[in-house]
Amino acid sequence: MQKKVSTLNKPLNGEITIPADKSISHRAVMFSSLAKGTSIIRNFSDGQDPLTTLKIFNQLGIESDIKENEIIIKSTGKLKQNNLPLDCGNSGTTMRLVSGILAGQNFNSVLIGDESLSKRPMKRIIEPLTQMGAIIEANEYKAPLKITGQDLHAIDYTSQIASAQVKSCILLAGLGVNDGITSVTEPYVSRNHTELMLKAMGANISTNGTKVSIQKSELSPIEINICGDISSAAYFIVAALIVPNSKIILKKVGLNPTRTGILDVAQKMGANIKILDEKEVYGEKVGDIQIEYSELNGCEISGEIIPRLIDEIPIIAVLATQAKGKTVIKDAQDLRNKESDRITAVVTELKRLGANIEETPDGMIIRGKCNLLGDTEVETYHDHRLAMSLYVAGLICEKEILINGFEWVNISFPTFEELFNKLI
Ligand code: S3P
Repeated sequence: MQKKVSTLNKPLNGEITIPADKSISHRAVMFSSLAKGTSIIRNFSDGQDPLTTLKIFNQLGIESDIKENEIIIKSTGKLKQNNLPLDCGNSGTTMRLVSGILAGQNFNSVLIGDESLSKRPMKRIIEPLTQMGAIIEANEYKAPLKITGQDLHAIDYTSQIASAQVKSCILLAGLGVNDGITSVTEPYVSRNHTELMLKAMGANISTNGTKVSIQKSELSPIEINICGDISSAAYFIVAALIVPNSKIILKKVGLNPTRTGILDVAQKMGANIKILDEKEVYGEKVGDIQIEYSELNGCEISGEIIPRLIDEIPIIAVLATQAKGKTVIKDAQDLRNKESDRITAVVTELKRLGANIEETPDGMIIRGKCNLLGDTEVETYHDHRLAMSLYVAGLICEKEILINGFEWVNISFPTFEELFNKLI
């Protein structure tokens, strides 16, 4: 689907509630499926990716009842073999976390994905799971993954990359290991939703700096209220910062410090952002964010902050085109392994719009403030975050743009445009 975006000649104003966090939605379905009893998940994401996870657990014998955005999960605590392939669609989180769960079952499974997911690296999970005793067949470490269920043993694993998907995969495998403590250490702390939710469900899990350890545990069902997704909020945060005279409030956004790198970067650039009403729900921080149009300066983004804003880099690149001076993004080479190669994709498409941006092996350099001309077609590379970032860029282009493949927004945020229209 092609989407036309025209220059927005007026400010964004008003309040919206940001839809549910995708990472937390995936985990809510997975962990509730492993907990014996009835779990209630409120405010579940309506993105395609979390629904893909739900469908897979239904195939694995879990009963669920969806009413609007509430799901009731009924589980015996045990999964059942399904002889059909389990289709993870576009979702890396589904494939990597579910692999950790299935590797230690007493049955076999096959995981498949769409064109984009089938190109993404799975060595990062196959290697540690194999060290635990798992048997996984793949083609050059890529999907389809054929998993022969096995009894696993504990490992103490040091990951070369800060990745919540890798960390969670190993922890979920460790959850079922009969003896010993399974630990994962990463170079920097990545998002910790797995740790917080497993703890809330009674798992024997602990964190010490960048190391997380888990022992065999039975999970208890809980009621989970999912907060708004800061990765979805990011598009509105940037839009309000770059569309002159805007002032908006985003309600009930997740403010887990492992996810709020975008707020730190925006504030470092000079953004006028306030947190209005902060609360905590089973360890997850939630609050309202007020954003006002701001004059910005470029900055360097590197090191420990990268995993805290990894999914926001495409929209941060749009922001940087409107900041005075140079913005350098480094240490982000793993962006090349996302739904698309997000370094090449962002640089190519923002250049088409007229941005002064150059690609580096592990990031990009953006020089601002530049006038984006637009008057062109842009591509989305099967990548929802590219589609939404280009939409926001289109609002400040001098002439209209045409975004090809805009339907990819449905992966995480089907109501994206509807919510934008509420602020106009
Ligand atoms: C996610 C972790 C991140 C992120 C992805 C969701 C998760 O991936 O990019 O969109 O839910 O655990 P990595 O862990 O591979 O960095």
